[in-house]
Amino acid sequence: MVQCPAMTRKILVTSALPYANGHIHLGHLVEYIQTDIWVRFQKLIGNDCLFICADDTHGTAIMIRAKTEGKKEEDIIASMHSAHLADFTNFDIQFDHYGSTNCPENKALCGEIWTAIRKAGLVEEKEIEQLYDTEAKTFLADRFVKGICPKCRKSGQYGDNCESCGAHYEPTELIEPVSTLTGTVPVIQKAKHLFVNIDAEHAFLDQWVHSGALQSEIENYLAGQFLGEPLHPWDISRPAPYFGFEIPDSPGNYWYVWFDAPTGYMAATWEWCRKQADGTSPLNSDRQRFDDWWRNPQPEIHHFIGKDITYFHTLFWPAMLKVSGFTLPKKVHIHGFLTVNGEKMSKSRGTFILASTYLKHLDPAYLRYYYASKLSNKVDDIDLSFEEFESKVNADLVGNVVNLASRTAKFVAQGQGAAVCSGLAAHYPEDGGLFAQAAAAGKEIADAYETGDYSKAMRLIMECGRRASKFIEESAPWAVKDNPVKLQNICTIGLNLFRQMVIYLSPVLPKLKMQTEELLNCKLDHWNDAAEPLSGTPVNTYKHLMTRIDKTAAEKMMTDSKQNETGTGGMHLPSTGKDTDECLKAEPLVEQKISIDDFTKVDLRIARIIEASEVKEAKKLLRLKLSLGGDTVLNVFAGIKAAYEPEKLVGRLVVCVANLEPRQMKFGLSEGMVVAAGSGGPEVFLLAPDDGAKPGMRLH
Ligand code: MSP
Ligand code: ZN
Repeated sequence: MVQCPAMTRKILVTSALPYANGHIHLGHLVEYIQTDIWVRFQKLIGNDCLFICADDTHGTAIMIRAKTEGKKEEDIIASMHSAHLADFTNFDIQFDHYGSTNCPENKALCGEIWTAIRKAGLVEEKEIEQLYDTEAKTFLADRFVKGICPKCRKSGQYGDNCESCGAHYEPTELIEPVSTLTGTVPVIQKAKHLFVNIDAEHAFLDQWVHSGALQSEIENYLAGQFLGEPLHPWDISRPAPYFGFEIPDSPGNYWYVWFDAPTGYMAATWEWCRKQADGTSPLNSDRQRFDDWWRNPQPEIHHFIGKDITYFHTLFWPAMLKVSGFTLPKKVHIHGFLTVNGEKMSKSRGTFILASTYLKHLDPAYLRYYYASKLSNKVDDIDLSFEEFESKVNADLVGNVVNLASRTAKFVAQGQGAAVCSGLAAHYPEDGGLFAQAAAAGKEIADAYETGDYSKAMRLIMECGRRASKFIEESAPWAVKDNPVKLQNICTIGLNLFRQMVIYLSPVLPKLKMQTEELLNCKLDHWNDAAEPLSGTPVNTYKHLMTRIDKTAAEKMMTDSKQNETGTGGMHLPSTGKDTDECLKAEPLVEQKISIDDFTKVDLRIARIIEASEVKEAKKLLRLKLSLGGDTVLNVFAGIKAAYEPEKLVGRLVVCVANLEPRQMKFGLSEGMVVAAGSGGPEVFLLAPDDGAKPGMRLH
């Protein structure tokens, strides 16, 4: 068949490595579903394809989190690893290997690349000025400082780039910077950093960027924004304290997380190669298998990433690979961002939806199909509109695909009450050219998958579906039960058209593929199976394949997402959006019941307020410093300004929730919550422990 490639391609595919400090949400899933579909398609057409991913574990964020939660970084990483994998598995995202950047292979590979970069004379040492938080005693990574954009003067911008005008700058250039860790004004402090002179590879990058590896929008963006002038040296080290790999020839300095993150693609490949070993082969042979992927121009390497991390993957990464002699990516597929109902995902609107929350309400197949129907090979953002989501799933998947089977299988299935005849007709009947037409569309559909234009693939498949549905509608199998031959022919056609579509859809809907294999007693493991109809075989009892979307499910999911939000901190500000000052929402009187286990998860402690001050920019907030005894101090924002004067609070005992996930707010990081009762405004009462209670005591 035409679709079958003449030669098997060897393809290594990656999705960006999700940060280990947060859960997977619907925005992430755009990418992982997009990549999974592409990989499944490659496997289906017979290519040798490997899907690799890992958690991105290093950097300041995870270090701060470990500190505030009083845990080891490794423990946070381990629990996130299983949470991420569970989410991915539940969405049928099937990696060949899912590793972690915090592994020995990664350290070794970083060392190799580093040695090559040093040898090429590209490392420079410079003393630089960096923002330092004297209270948290740490240098501030770009994302831990906010201020006014030096270019467009928009406030509330992070230290690396401006969300409003897109400018890139140094954190020290921010106007009126504030540490998001403590809310204090950072000082400028000098530190030695190592830089990679990537401009030495300017000519190579000029050529690589136009090598066909990138979408044209990205080519233009890079040529226009970066390659028109000399490339700035890349600041590749961070001084201690930093969670990462210490640079072997520069003690006290660590590789910046973006140095060892992309190498995680390689490290995870290496781990996969080791898994393939029979257990007796020496390390060398894992390494040979690894080199066969990464030090060999033959295999194709494809990265799938979001637009926000473009320049790491299209400038630094190819330069690192080139200098160290590793295989360059054949393609970097870049997608846009997810919006929900036309707006940026928002916690307060309930549209910041976690993968695990979605799964409580809806079938993952719906989202896979919906994203497929929206994704193209452009960098445009994609919108999840719940109205469109519902109508697409109901009309396309249920109406045009599943109905083909549900309306026909029961008449020919073994052991089914309604069966009039048994199995598929001995020969595929005359169908007016329907099967042949859909078979001929296979090439165009395959091309659309290959180029990442899934929305076109879905459109073409649904055209087949509409023709098939029309055929069933007009032939009305339910009305010809007294003519078993005719009925069997109609059902044979209907089920074959169904089977053909399921093959085309199987990269998107792997579960439906499995269910169909069971129904029709056949394997659907190759794209070319869609070219030949099935005849003379038994059909198994029809089991329900997919239901229409329940109208209220999306609503419930959003309510649930909102609850996740307020549930973890009634007094906290939402981290995004306009309603920053809306902190004390009235809670319903009768709460949902929780188990004692749930309750004991809440670590309630006695704390002493050691500092209290008002947050000038916020109507309802006080900034509190709580001592939990010893060295433990929590920074907390509480919506009690209307009820208490800060001076009167200092020294008093309160009850606090000590194990809340720290939350980034406009004015700083909030690491806990004080317990109070009341309806809000001046009607708020802090719970007061009796004298004699000691800070740090746990409540029972
Ligand atoms: N850890 C880095 C990637 C390192 S790759 C060597 C990172 N992690 S992330 O968790 O923030 O994002 C992982 C991927 O998900 C990125 O490609 C990012 O673009 C994508 N998305 C995260 N939020 C997204 C949306 N709201 N919409 C679409 N994709 C988004 O970046
Ligand atoms: Zn700006």
